[in-house]
Amino acid sequence: MAQHDTGETPAVAGSAVEKSEPRRDHPGTAVEVSDAFVNPGLPPHRPRVTDLDPKKDAQAERRVYTLFYISIIGSVLAIAAYGAFPLEEGNMSSVRMNNAFLGLGIALGLLGIGVGAVYWAKTLMRGDEIVELRHPTRGTDTTRARAVEVFTLGNEESGIGRRTLIRNTLIGALIATPLPAIVLFRDLGPTSDPVEALETTLWEKNVRLVQDPTGAPIRASDLTLGSVVHVIPEGLNELAHKLEEKAKAAVLLMRLKPEDLNELPERESWSYEGIVAYSKICTHVGCPVALYEQQTHHLLCPCHQSTFDVTNHCEVIFGPAKRPLPQLPITVDADGYLIAQSGFHEPVGPSYWERS
Ligand code: FES
Repeated sequence: MAQHDTGETPAVAGSAVEKSEPRRDHPGTAVEVSDAFVNPGLPPHRPRVTDLDPKKDAQAERRVYTLFYISIIGSVLAIAAYGAFPLEEGNMSSVRMNNAFLGLGIALGLLGIGVGAVYWAKTLMRGDEIVELRHPTRGTDTTRARAVEVFTLGNEESGIGRRTLIRNTLIGALIATPLPAIVLFRDLGPTSDPVEALETTLWEKNVRLVQDPTGAPIRASDLTLGSVVHVIPEGLNELAHKLEEKAKAAVLLMRLKPEDLNELPERESWSYEGIVAYSKICTHVGCPVALYEQQTHHLLCPCHQSTFDVTNHCEVIFGPAKRPLPQLPITVDADGYLIAQSGFHEPVGPSYWERS
């Protein structure tokens, strides 16, 4: 590389360095020592083959845009692989295939840009050495004008304005490279309407209440006074996404004396002989409300101590929760097993954007 005029005086090869004694004329300051090295200057500029041979120049240009094309293909391959090799639960081979092709695509996308840009700089951009002395951070008008000159020079030297195919393929590669990330992150979001997903649970008419986690159905006659059972809807354990469904459908079942329940008039038919079922998902920020005080009939959320009174339709009597736990209307089927009369009549869990 050759030296450019930067408007400053570069160091000169072989310049003599005046040797001086260490300065000790300022007591308490560090000793200043003169530079003991001779500035070697810049080596003579050696032109590259692409500087001398137009054929080699064209060949290098082809390689650069081919690398950018490879980058674009790699990014497209990553997106296609993500769709073509979906992750299947319990199938390690699907995980391997997905990772292998996704990784290959992203690697090609990034390598194509990286190698192409380096090769472009090494073979086609001007190869002159440049000496640029340090300046104060704040630029003067002259410096700013010089910056414009440098940009113009950079444009000329890199050929980005002239070599349109390289420029366009580089732009294409830069646009295509983030696409796999966008596709991957989009897949983390909900696949269905999020409001509908939050409003509905697996509970519906005639679904049996079964024990969590065994899935055993529950006879009303088996529940003793004061007992509490953790409950899920029948069939939940067979679902592929059972944890997502369980996070909404988990229920606590308690048996009280019927006369202890102060039921709202419209809910008098929602319990069965003192057995009541309430959502286990705290209406504050969604922790499982799992502590039942048998004597007081209070349900306590361990996260921030919200306390719900089971005898009074689970209204909040303490803590940051703002609304009672939703009640699941229950009854029994012909065999005496507890079943739901319907789903919840309101969304379970904490507030969200569609719920005031
Ligand atoms: S999540 Fe239950 S009190 Fe905060």
